Amino acid sequence: MNTRTLGTNGPTVSALGLGLMGMSDLYGAADEAESIATIHAALDAGITLLDTGDFYGMGHNELLLRDALRGRSRDNALISVKFGALRDVDGGWNGVDVRPAAIKNFLAYTLRRLGTDHVDIYRPARLSPDVPVEDVVGALAELVKAGHIRHIGLSEVSAETLRRAHAVHPITDLQIEYSLISRSPETDILPAARELGVGITAYGVLSRGLISGHWTARRETAGTDFRSHLPRFSGDNLDRNLALVEALRAIAETRGVTVAQIAIAWVLARGENIVPLIGARRRDRLSEALGAAAITLSESDLAAIEAAVPAGAAAGARYDEAQMAHLDSERA
Ligand SMILES: NC(=O)c1ccc[n+]([C@@H]2O[C@H](COP(=O)([O-])OP(=O)(O)OC[C@H]3O[C@@H](n4cnc5c(N)ncnc54)[C@H](OP(=O)(O)O)[C@@H]3O)[C@@H](O)[C@H]2O)c1
Repeated sequence: MNTRTLGTNGPTVSALGLGLMGMSDLYGAADEAESIATIHAALDAGITLLDTGDFYGMGHNELLLRDALRGRSRDNALISVKFGALRDVDGGWNGVDVRPAAIKNFLAYTLRRLGTDHVDIYRPARLSPDVPVEDVVGALAELVKAGHIRHIGLSEVSAETLRRAHAVHPITDLQIEYSLISRSPETDILPAARELGVGITAYGVLSRGLISGHWTARRETAGTDFRSHLPRFSGDNLDRNLALVEALRAIAETRGVTVAQIAIAWVLARGENIVPLIGARRRDRLSEALGAAAITLSESDLAAIEAAVPAGAAAGARYDEAQMAHLDSERA
C-alpha cells in the first residue's frame, strides 16, 4: 500500500483509510464478526488510518475498534475520532456540543472506550454557531500539549473557517465529502487546503454506495439505513444517478476494473494530499476497494470519466435540507 502525508507536518498514512461508521450505524444492520474481520484484513493489507466517531452507534464503533486492535500493535494504527454530535436513547440526533468542557469530557470517554492513552487525530464532526472555531481549536491545542491527542482535524468546514482554525493551531486534515458526484469542495475548499498545507480525508467517495456499481433501484433500505432519507437515493433522482453509474461502468469495463475501483481511483488521482476513506464493512467490499490503489488513470481515462459523469451531474443534494443547513462547508 502506498502512503500519503496528511498536511505539511502531519502523519504519513496509507493512501486509503478505512472508515468504520457503517459497522455500527446509519447503513442498517452490520455483522460484528465480519466487521472485525474487515478491520483485520485492512490492517493486514497495509491500511493504517482508521476513522471512527464517538457517536457512531453511541460508543459501539469505538468499542468495536478496541476489540479489533486487541493483540495488535497500537503503533500500526492511526486512529481518527470525530466528536460533538449528540444522540438520544432512540438513536436520534440532538444537535452538536463543541464547548471546550464538553470536548474534554468526550475525549475522556473515548480514551476509556478505545483502551488507549491517545487519539492520533481528533476532530469535531460539525461546528456549532455558538462556539467560535478559534475556541474549539484552542481547546484541542491544549489536548495536543497534554499528549492526549496527536493532531487536530476538522470536518465539513468552509475555506474561511479552515483558515481561521489553522491560524490558531496547524490543522492536519479536513474530512469532507468528495467524489465524482460531490465536487463542490473544488471551488474554494480544496485550493485553501492545498495552500495551507492541510490534508484531505475524503469520505463518500462511493457516495455511500450509490456509485459503487452495486446499488440498484430495487435495493430495499431498512428503517435504520439513513440512505433511505437521502435525496440522491430516491425517486427520479435515483434513476438519474444510476444512469451516471452505467456510463461509468462502460469505462470501467474497458479498463478491466470495477465501477467502485474507478470511482476511488479518480479521487486518489485528484491530489497527493487526498486520502479516500473506504466505508467497506465486509471483506469482499474491502478487497474490491483495495484494488483501486493499484490503478493509474491516464489523461484520456480522466477525460472519459469526466465526460461520463460531468461535475454537477448528480441529481439531488448530498444530505437532506436540515442536515445541509448544519454544514459550515456549504455556507457561501
Ligand atoms: N466527516 C463526516 O461528516 C463523515 C460523514 C460520513 C462518513 N464519514 C467517514 O467516512 C467513512 C466512509 O463512509 P462513506 O459511507 O462515506 O463511504 P462510501 O465508500 O461512500 O460508502 C460506503 C458504502 O458503499 C457500499 N459499497 C459498495 N461497494 C463497496 C466497496 N467496494 N468498498 C466500500 N464500500 C462499498 C457499502 O454499502 P453496503 O455495505 O450497504 O453495501 C458501504 O457501506 C465512514 O466510515 C466515516 O468514517 C465521515
